[in-house]
Order: sequence, then structure tokens, then C-alpha cells
Amino acid sequence: MEGKNLSLLHCLLLHGLILALVTKRATCQSNKKSYIVYMGNQRKDGSSTSSLHKSMLQDPFGSNFAMKSVLCSYKRSFNGFVVELTEEEAQKMAGMSGVVSVFPNEKRNLHTTRSWDFMGFSEQVERAALESDVIIGVLDTGIWPESESFNDKGLGPPPIKWKGICQTANNFTCNNKITGAQYYRSDGLFGSDDLISPRDSSGHGTHTASTAAGGLVNRANLFGLGYGTARGGAPSARIAVYKICWSGGCYDADILAAFDDAIADGVDIISLSVGWRIRRDYFNDSIAIGAFHAMKNGVLTVNSTGNQGPNRATITSFSPWSLSVAASTTDRKIFTKLKFGNNMIYKGVSINTFDLNNEMYPIIHGGNAPNTIGKFTWASSRFCLQNSLDHNLVKGKIVLCDMLGTGREPLLAGALGAVMQDQGAKDFAFSFPLPASYLDLVDGSKILIYINSTSNATATIFKSNEDNDTMAPYVASFSSRGPNPITPDILKPDLSAPGVDILAAWSLLSPVSQIKGDNRFVPFNIISGTSMSCPHVSASAAYIKSFHPTWSPAAIKSALMTTASPMSSGINLDAEFAYGSGHVNPIKAVNPGLIYDSEEVDYIKFLCGQGNGTRFVQLVTRDDTTCSEATNGTVWDLNYPSFALFTTASETVSRVFNRTVTNVGSPMSIYGANVTAPAGTLKIRVNPSVLPFTSHGQKLSFALTIEGTTDKSIVSASLEWDDGVHKVRSPIIVFVSIS
Ligand SMILES: *[C@@H]1O[C@H](CO)[C@@H](O)[C@H](O)[C@H]1NC(C)=O
Ligand SMILES: *[C@@H]1O[C@H](CO)[C@@H](O)[C@H](O)[C@H]1NC(C)=O
Ligand SMILES: *[C@@H]1O[C@H](CO)[C@@H](O)[C@H](O)[C@H]1NC(C)=O
Ligand SMILES: *[C@@H]1O[C@H](CO)[C@@H](O)[C@H](O)[C@H]1NC(C)=O
Ligand SMILES: *[C@@H]1O[C@H](CO)[C@@H](O)[C@H](O)[C@H]1NC(C)=O
Ligand SMILES: *[C@@H]1O[C@H](CO)[C@@H](O)[C@H](O)[C@H]1NC(C)=O
Ligand SMILES: *[C@@H]1O[C@H](CO)[C@@H](O)[C@H](O)[C@H]1NC(C)=O
Ligand SMILES: *[C@@H]1O[C@H](CO)[C@@H](O)[C@H](O)[C@H]1NC(C)=O
Ligand SMILES: *[C@@H]1O[C@H](CO)[C@@H](O)[C@H](O)[C@H]1NC(C)=O
Ligand SMILES: *[C@@H]1O[C@H](CO)[C@@H](O)[C@H](O)[C@H]1NC(C)=O
Repeated sequence: MEGKNLSLLHCLLLHGLILALVTKRATCQSNKKSYIVYMGNQRKDGSSTSSLHKSMLQDPFGSNFAMKSVLCSYKRSFNGFVVELTEEEAQKMAGMSGVVSVFPNEKRNLHTTRSWDFMGFSEQVERAALESDVIIGVLDTGIWPESESFNDKGLGPPPIKWKGICQTANNFTCNNKITGAQYYRSDGLFGSDDLISPRDSSGHGTHTASTAAGGLVNRANLFGLGYGTARGGAPSARIAVYKICWSGGCYDADILAAFDDAIADGVDIISLSVGWRIRRDYFNDSIAIGAFHAMKNGVLTVNSTGNQGPNRATITSFSPWSLSVAASTTDRKIFTKLKFGNNMIYKGVSINTFDLNNEMYPIIHGGNAPNTIGKFTWASSRFCLQNSLDHNLVKGKIVLCDMLGTGREPLLAGALGAVMQDQGAKDFAFSFPLPASYLDLVDGSKILIYINSTSNATATIFKSNEDNDTMAPYVASFSSRGPNPITPDILKPDLSAPGVDILAAWSLLSPVSQIKGDNRFVPFNIISGTSMSCPHVSASAAYIKSFHPTWSPAAIKSALMTTASPMSSGINLDAEFAYGSGHVNPIKAVNPGLIYDSEEVDYIKFLCGQGNGTRFVQLVTRDDTTCSEATNGTVWDLNYPSFALFTTASETVSRVFNRTVTNVGSPMSIYGANVTAPAGTLKIRVNPSVLPFTSHGQKLSFALTIEGTTDKSIVSASLEWDDGVHKVRSPIIVFVSIS
């Protein structure tokens, strides 16, 4: 770490420590500007610090001081107090003897994996005693075991059901948090950075594992960004590591082997943030097959939808027995301001931890700096393509690139910073290996005009700041969209969870931007992707499992889906194809009222009805199960917690969906159906519309009928079963085109 960043960190530590106390004492709050006067360690002589603090305000600096009163004193662990002061008074105070520092009492949000708080899932939520019996299997790039997030303080030995092993190659050690770790090695995939061990040299697996089940780490941050307490959603749960991915990729064989082991090892939830760019049908997908086995054995597989959005039908995770998670934003948005020699200031997007100290530097358009010796022209240097920039022309300057790139070429060419302009989305931030910010083409063209207008154009790039995005949550542009390309009548994705600018633990071998030449190695990093949303749901599933250890994967999934908070199609025009049932809400999901349960036989019926069933069923069951008329179910009758109907614009449909719900709330409860649908040519009926339960675990069936015609690309409606306590909500969609 660089010296100046270290001192910044130190300063933040101080703020955090004191403000943590401040928030506990209502009396410290004031409408006027107040300052914290920090006086170091607590005095050992036991003299009354309160009176000392008061006396300090009567010091010779002016009679005004005496009028002020101490808002609150710190006297248990250290010495200091809060007082209303003007800036001038604060400066005087700072010079007084015994005072270490005086700094403004600003509102800061002490929440890091901000995503959990944003989800309404606070650190203080009720936890089941059994949480430490839940084991989350993370299939990923391995883990960094020394991360503070995986400290096993306070955790007893793993539950007896755990049967896995720990491969200790390369100094890798397990503990009571990381109860097991294995790596799966496929020849030919290793790069020079790969470690033949469960140890993570990428950062990705460490990040996802800590989001799922990392313990609490105070004052986590990335050079001050995202400052607060980092925590996993199930901080007492255990992590079983299955390293299936290497720098060269992840092989099917290894993925299946990992599934095989994980199920036998006794994991409860499988969290899988990897996938293919191309979609494969159920018969041809190792993950779908592995996940089917997992389901058969009572293990829920949680999978990310993929990062190929925002176009429709880009989703690659769609098997009905797994839970597919889209990625949405939180209220914390990271941005990076830029200032130009003409005094124009623009708000770009990036995670920029570098500090140029507000100094202006020359800026040059990449197009004006082609590496002519390498025979590159304006046509490639304007995009800052590999080797295209002339080192002598960009050295010590900020270079403007007409494309969002990794920043590698400007860095290698010796540029001091980079400004990128492109037409892509700006709803999440990338890290670059040098000071950089990303602008849209509108701002970009203004900058081009400025650069052209003068011979000495200058610019500077500021350190990133955080904004409150009050529009959140909405699904990020990169998150893959439905509909389900193989079975359009099963709605996918299932739900959405935070996946944008997420701070979590990191591998010390992987630099912040993951670009060679970046020398920032950090214990916590901020990254985005559906990979980040997946462990939020894995943890939520673990949370439910800790309260309901006997619930099936489908029951847990149903609980998460029917209690998800509805999201808005205002920003996400693709509506349910972007967010499925909505934004995950683990607290509500613990007590869903009703569940839509399914077991292996139900999925086999579904598969048989899809044709090709026997082949697949035999593939997964590895016995001679065959499909018969009796086992031939329709897609509409799979007991799924959402409803989807693919039709054609001219067709008048009448489609019945049969469903059975299980009462997991109070024994005597009467649920009424409430269908909300836009006015139009579609009619949705529920029969019966009242479900009177008389016992716990009782199952009652109903049929939902969609009749009519539509020509809309998506019609969004919903069914809500309501007993006055629970609202069991399912989205209903009708649509006429896949893409
Ligand atoms: C393993 O630990 C030993 C002793 O602490 C150390 O010398 C060695 O460099 C470590 N190896 C790796 C790969 O970290
Ligand atoms: C998980 O997602 C990947 C791609 O994102 C996909 O290939 C795989 O089939 C998915 N698994 C399941 C069980 O849906
Ligand atoms: C299965 O995948 C292979 C290659 O990945 C492809 O050639 C084949 O057509 C696929 N089969 C089906 C049924 O999708
Ligand atoms: C350089 O730019 C500044 C404004 O940014 C301007 O005042 C100055 O005259 C310029 N110098 C030359 C040599 O163009
Ligand atoms: C900048 O100047 C070059 C020629 O010097 C011209 O080709 C280009 O169109 C100009 N760009 C803008 C945005 O004015
Ligand atoms: C953003 O604003 C909302 C509403 O004012 C508030 O509840 C929330 O805590 C804020 N979030 C952050 C990160 O400051
Ligand atoms: C099974 O799937 C293959 C590839 O998708 C297809 O060519 C074949 O017709 C299917 N068979 C049946 C019986 O549906
Ligand atoms: C099951 O349904 C599928 C699709 O509707 C059909 O192709 C198949 O012949 C049926 N099989 C049996 C045994 O009824
Ligand atoms: C679905 O529900 C309808 C209407 O209640 C019923 O007639 C039909 O038999 C049901 N189908 C199945 C497969 O249960
Ligand atoms: C039905 O749902 C709508 C929209 O969510 C709500 O306004 C209404 O109060 C609900 N009605 C009943 C009877 O629950």
C-alpha cells in the first residue's frame, strides 16, 4: 500500500471508532455543525473526564467557548468529546494541550457489505442457533484462508454430518469456518499465476465465499471506499471450498466432480457463480445435471444468471431445480469526477482509489498518439488498443480513449491516467490499473471538442466518491435476461439480489483491477456481477435452512421467491425477465406462510413431458427409470412459485396451471387469492379463491387460468395469497416473443 493511502486508512479507522460510539448516544446528535475532539487514550488516574472536558471549554480562547456544552463524552475506552463549534473554534481547539485531533462530526454510513443492510437484513437480525450447522459449498476459484472474514473465532468444530476433506497443498489450512477445501485439476488450464491448491489467486472465490458466510470484519474498505463492517449473510455458517476454476477456465468434469463431492460431504447449499457464455439444454449441461443430483439429495443449488445482459433470452442458468439469481443495484453508487482545463467538471464512473492531488495534467486523445513505429494509426490508437499508443506522446499525460477498455494499454504506454468514452451502461463501476474514469458519448464529445480547441488541454481525475442512488434497487444492465430459452413457460430468473459494487474479501495475490502491473494488493475489493448476487441468495437460503433444517430445496426456493419485494418495470422495461419474483428478503422468507414444494418425482414428470426425458432422467438417476404416460407432466403443472405463458399474438389462449401449496404458517389460516393484472384482453382466474387450512403441513390445491389474447412483449400480473399475516406473492407473465 502506498503511504498516503495508509494514512487515509488510519484516519478512517479513527472516524469509525468514534462514530460507532456516537451513534449509540442520542445526546451526541446536534442540528448544528459539531466536532469530535479526540484526546487519545483514557486516563488511568480515574479523574473525572467529564469535568475535564467541561473545563477545556472554559479555556482562555474566548468567552464564547464557555457558552458551549459538551454533547457527549467518551470515557470508557478512550478520551474525547463532541461539541458544537465553528470552524475557527475547531482550529483553536485543535491547538490545545491534550488534544490529538478535532474533526467534523459528519454523517457517515457505517455499513459495508452495504448490500445486506440495503436488503433490510441488519447485523442484529434474529439468528437460529443452528446456523453454525449449515454448510455452504462454494464452487469457485478457491479461497484466501487467511482473510479476516474467515477467522473462526467463536465457532466450534464442524457439525458431525461434515465428511469432507482439506487439501493442504501450498500452505493451505482449514479451520472451523473453512471446514473443507478441495481443488479439481484439469490439465492444460494452468497459467503461471495458478496455485495448485485450494488457495485463490483470482479473488473471485474469496469474494463470493465471504459474501455468503464471512464473519464480521470491522472497518473494512477499499482505500476508504465502502467503509464499514463487512459481513456474510450467514456469518456463523461453514464454508466448504471446491476450487473448480483456474485462470484458463472451469471444466465440466471438475464441476461435476465437485458437485459429487459436495453432496457426499454433507453441504446444505451449493453456491455457484460460474457458467458458460453459451446456453446448453438440460441434457447437455454438467451444472444442470450436478444440480439435479444435489436437489435429489436435499441440497439447493443457487446459480448466477450470467453477465450477458441487457438483451432478452441471454440467461444461461434456467434449470427449474436450481435458483437463478439476477444482479441489482444498492443505494451506494460509486462515481469519479473529472475536471478539465476549461473548468468543466464531469461525473464519470469507475472505482478510482488513486489520488492525483487535484493537480491538472496534459490530456491527449489516443487518436493523436498512434504508435507509428509499430505501424498503428489513429484508427486503433483512438481506442487505446493493445500496443497502439506511442509511449513518448502519452507519457505523463492523461489519455482519452474512445472505448471502455481495461486500462492496460494506457498503463503500459506510461500514461498517467485514462478517460474512456463509450456508449455502454454506467450503472456499475470498474476498477482500472491507473487513475481512470468512464464517461458516456455525450460528455465524451464535449471533451473531444475541448481537447481540439486548445494546444494545452489539461485534466485531472479525482478519487472516487459515493452517492446515494435513491432509484435502487434495479437490475443492472449486465445481468442476463429471460425468458428461459429452453422452457419459456418456466419464468427465469427467479429473483434478484445485490450484485453491483459489492465490497467483500479478496485474494492478496490478485491486484485490485486484476490487471498485471497494478500494484494495489488489498484484503477487500469492490466488484460487480451476477457472481456477486448469487452468494447473497446462497446465504439467504442458508439462513432459512438454519430455521427450517428439514425444508426441501424447492421449499427454500419458494420461500425466497414468494416473499421477494416486487421491483419496478419503470427502469427495467423487461420487468420479470430482468428480476423474476423481485428483490430477495431473507427475513420475510423465514416465515412465508405457504410454500410451493416439489421433489424429484415432480421434476422427472416435467422432464418426461418435455420429450427426451428418458435420456436425461437416466443420465441423472443412473438407473433404468423411464418416462411413461403416468409420469408425463406438463410444464404448466410443475409446482413452480411463478407463472409464465408463452403465446402468439394472434392466438386466443386458455391455459390452466395446477398448483399445490403447503401450509407452513399457523395451523388454522384462511388464505384469499388476490390477482392483480393490468386492464386488457387477458383474464386471470383462481379456483378456488379461498384456501381454508386447518393444520400445519396441510396441502391444498388450486388452479390458475389465463384466458384471452395479447400482443405485448410482456404482460406482468401477480397472484397473492393473503391470510392477513402473510402475503404469498407469485408473478404471472404472458408474452409473445422470446427475443
Ligand atoms: C509456506 O510457508 C512457509 C513457512 O511459513 C514459507 O516459507 C513458504 O514461503 C510458504 N509457501 C507459500 C507458497 O506460501
Ligand atoms: C448455472 O449457470 C450456468 C451459466 O451461468 C449454466 O451453464 C448452468 O446451467 C446453470 N446451472 C443451473 C443448475 O441452472
Ligand atoms: C451438446 O453440446 C455439444 C457441444 O457442447 C453440442 O455439439 C451438441 O449439439 C449439444 N447437444 C444438445 C442436444 O444440445
Ligand atoms: C494553457 O491553458 C491555459 C488555460 O487552461 C491558458 O490560460 C494558457 O494561456 C494556455 N497556454 C498556452 C501556451 O496555450
Ligand atoms: C478534432 O480535430 C480533428 C482534426 O484535427 C478532427 O478530425 C476531429 O473531427 C476533431 N474532433 C472534434 C470533436 O472536434
Ligand atoms: C440513502 O437514502 C435513503 C433515504 O433517504 C436512506 O434510507 C439510506 O440509508 C441512504 N443510503 C445511504 C447509503 O446513505
Ligand atoms: C432429443 O433432443 C434432440 C436434440 O435436442 C432432438 O434432436 C431430438 O429430436 C429429441 N428427441 C425427442 C424424442 O424429443
Ligand atoms: C410425453 O409428452 C411428450 C411431450 O408432450 C411426448 O412427446 C411424449 O410422447 C409423451 N410420452 C408418453 C409416454 O406419453
Ligand atoms: C388441473 O386442474 C384442472 C382444474 O382443476 C383439473 O381438471 C385437472 O385434472 C388438473 N390437472 C392435473 C394434472 O392435476
Ligand atoms: C390486492 O392487491 C392489491 C395490490 O397489491 C391491493 O391494493 C389490495 O389491497 C389487495 N386486496 C386484498 C383483498 O388483499
